[in-house]
Amino acid sequence: MENKLLHNSNEFILNRYPETNDNTLRAWSNAELLVLNYLKNLEHQNVHVFNDRFGVWNCTLHHKNVRTIWTYASQKKAVLNNLSSNNLSTNIIFNSPLEDIGEVQLALIKIPKSLELFELFLKQISKYSVENTQVVCGFMTKYFSKSYLTIAEKYFENVEQSKAWKKARLLVLRSPKKVLKIEIENIINTINWKENRLKQYLGVFSSDKIDIGTQFLLSHLKVKKHELTVLDVASGNGIISYEVLQQLSNAKVTLVDDFNLAIESSKLNIENARFICTDTIEGVTENEFDLILSNPPFHFEHENNIDITLYLFRRIKKCLKVEGRFLMVANAHLNYKTHLVKLFSSVQIIAKNTKFIIYECKC
Ligand SMILES: C[S@@+](CC[C@H](N)C(=O)[O-])C[C@H]1O[C@@H](n2cnc3c(N)ncnc32)[C@H](O)[C@@H]1O
Repeated sequence: MENKLLHNSNEFILNRYPETNDNTLRAWSNAELLVLNYLKNLEHQNVHVFNDRFGVWNCTLHHKNVRTIWTYASQKKAVLNNLSSNNLSTNIIFNSPLEDIGEVQLALIKIPKSLELFELFLKQISKYSVENTQVVCGFMTKYFSKSYLTIAEKYFENVEQSKAWKKARLLVLRSPKKVLKIEIENIINTINWKENRLKQYLGVFSSDKIDIGTQFLLSHLKVKKHELTVLDVASGNGIISYEVLQQLSNAKVTLVDDFNLAIESSKLNIENARFICTDTIEGVTENEFDLILSNPPFHFEHENNIDITLYLFRRIKKCLKVEGRFLMVANAHLNYKTHLVKLFSSVQIIAKNTKFIIYECKC
């Protein structure tokens, strides 16, 4: 895999985390390089970076005051790994998108796949903007839609699109609009679920509804009385744990998700649980759980990748008690059974329909 980047006569070694066997993938895209090229004409010293997935901006702009708005635990690891492999200080400022990010003079965004997350970034930038705030957004043209423009125009008077370079383009946003405070602070979706209302931050999986695969899993979920330690892997807004607690209120539930806004959303919906933002199910012990549940991820931004899912299955097996069970729902076309039978001694299909399969696995 190509991992050497020459920038301003300096060579940087940039690797992806998690690692991948796909040699066509790099730790940066032409969109990020186009943004760097645009910066040559700017003198700003303070830069806020959003969605710097593997740390290309953190490394190449290390001589500036960079503040990183992080969204994924795996992103934090990637950025720190790449800083240390280039002998750069790892003593950098990470803020979640929900924190005070300080005055924004120049912000860089690698446009995320989620329109909602893009909007949340712009709301946050607007909140901390000054008159001459400038936002430089990089994207690959094949992933762009007009909706991104519409969102940008909601928050900035002046929105310019650059010419394409190697299939990448920029959106440069200037003159923040005077948007109502209530609009900027509106970053939560509400989902009607049975007699209750669940909440989640913009950008969290499945937006303003409960995913139909998850609904299928929940319609077959019957928590047993002795299943008191429960792990919800890739927990999103916490809907699965929420249902577990409806059935067994004294269960000790742990939720893990790579996305910090997912974990923060689940805190809005569930009390008395353990919440861990991690991509590798860290912070729990082996053989801890009676029941593990998941609607696991299989795409990451624009990439489909089941390597991460298969890694999570191996971790799940370790975390399960010997007599415990792992219940998960997956799209029928993914054919996880071939992988699960290599790990678990029993793999049963307990329900299926045209789109989804529910597997129950035992050690
Ligand atoms: C299909 S969604 C399921 C969300 C939720 N359980 C539901 O049913 O609505 C998958 C979730 O996996 C999370 N995710 C992606 N990679 C992960 C990883 N390595 N470890 C934990 N969670 C991950 C995503 O952030 C997303 O919230």
